[in-house]
Amino acid sequence: MLLESARKFGTPQYLLDLDGLRERAIFFSHTMRHYIPNSEFFYAFKCNDLPLQVKTLKEEGFQADVAGIFELQLALKLGFERILFSGPGKSVEELKLALKKRKQVIVNIDNFDEIHRLKSLAGDRKSGRPLAVGFRLNAETSVDGAWSKFGFELEELKEAVRLVRQCPNLIWSGLHFHCSWNKTPKKYLENIKKIGTYLKENFPVEELRSLRFFDIGGGFYPEDQGIINKGEDKGMLLDILGIRRSSKLKIYEEMNFDPYAFSVTPVEPLENFGRAIASALQEYIFSFNPDIEIYFEPGRFIATHATTILLTVIAIKKNCAIVDAGINMLGDYKFSEYSFAPVVNITRPSTQMRRQVIYGSLCDPADCWGYSYYGEELQKGDTLAVLNQGAYTFCTAWRFIKPIPAYIAASGNRLTIARKAEKFQNRYAGCL
Ligand SMILES: Cc1ncc(COP(=O)(O)O)c(C=O)c1O
Repeated sequence: MLLESARKFGTPQYLLDLDGLRERAIFFSHTMRHYIPNSEFFYAFKCNDLPLQVKTLKEEGFQADVAGIFELQLALKLGFERILFSGPGKSVEELKLALKKRKQVIVNIDNFDEIHRLKSLAGDRKSGRPLAVGFRLNAETSVDGAWSKFGFELEELKEAVRLVRQCPNLIWSGLHFHCSWNKTPKKYLENIKKIGTYLKENFPVEELRSLRFFDIGGGFYPEDQGIINKGEDKGMLLDILGIRRSSKLKIYEEMNFDPYAFSVTPVEPLENFGRAIASALQEYIFSFNPDIEIYFEPGRFIATHATTILLTVIAIKKNCAIVDAGINMLGDYKFSEYSFAPVVNITRPSTQMRRQVIYGSLCDPADCWGYSYYGEELQKGDTLAVLNQGAYTFCTAWRFIKPIPAYIAASGNRLTIARKAEKFQNRYAGCL
């Protein structure tokens, strides 16, 4: 199917396995519902907003989690019945649309200024049903404070609730946190405990009983993600030492360290997350509100494996191969710096891994797809498959030098164009 799609539509392309996507979505929702029956699933559009992908997930019972105006408009256009809107800097235009579509939309408020903006837009004369709002709570657990910009501190919650209560067109309906890149359930458990304990100590039970949802965000890390040695702690230290001594390569050699070898990041099975989160909810949340709905906002876990990027080798040099697309398809330098994804020569596949740098077609020395591949020795014209490229690639693709290629969708043995390749007129639309 991969080769057929490359033959039929050419390369480069993103290729979406729709059946695989459905399976993954069902696996996630069934696993979580098994442990937490009162769950709802909101797919994080930011992870991959290809309309066909989003529609397919809707068919599998997912609702929408959006973070910006286009995603919100897309969710409304596609008829999602429940749309969560979270983000740290919502514009007036976005908030107005949320208020207008209050039957479907729930806003997770991020900060006090947003409360004031929303209140002044909502007005203080009661008009129809109120807009349901939740508060995003800061779930910062990292030492470097990388996620500290998001949400309210727990101690600010009472004041936030008081301000929202003053507005007859807003109703406090839930709470939200999000923590990222979780290979174990640890951070979810810490946050549930912290928030549940605080709520019980600071709010009357009747008030907590009236809450509709507790939103525990996304951040479920998918399996099979690789990291190159260079991106591990030891590699980064050696890099710094190498720069100080002005030769990275020399220091790698001295330490007998292969910077481009990789390891696969271990991730606990999803069942462990479901079981552990259910038990924390039982203790800290259901004890005061047994009917509250638990919202999940998975992105990466659902989207990663279903998309493969297809490329063609267009030049072989002494020290590298060059393919027909650049990492503008990803919008990230991850493959040159820290991340590994399997690249397979699908023209002549094998399980043998070979070492060769595979560069892209951008005028940028860090435009690199990886340092190794599986298959017979690369030749000009070979088709390569870069696996597991469905999350934060197409939606983060750069407007840089080369066009953004087409997205093809496969289901059974049918192939269709889910999105056409970017054309000259798309790129320069609206320009003087
Ligand atoms: C609020 C929120 N929800 C959900 C997600 C999706 O996260 P992931 O793709 O890691 O599941 C993100 C990602 O940053 C987020 O910020």
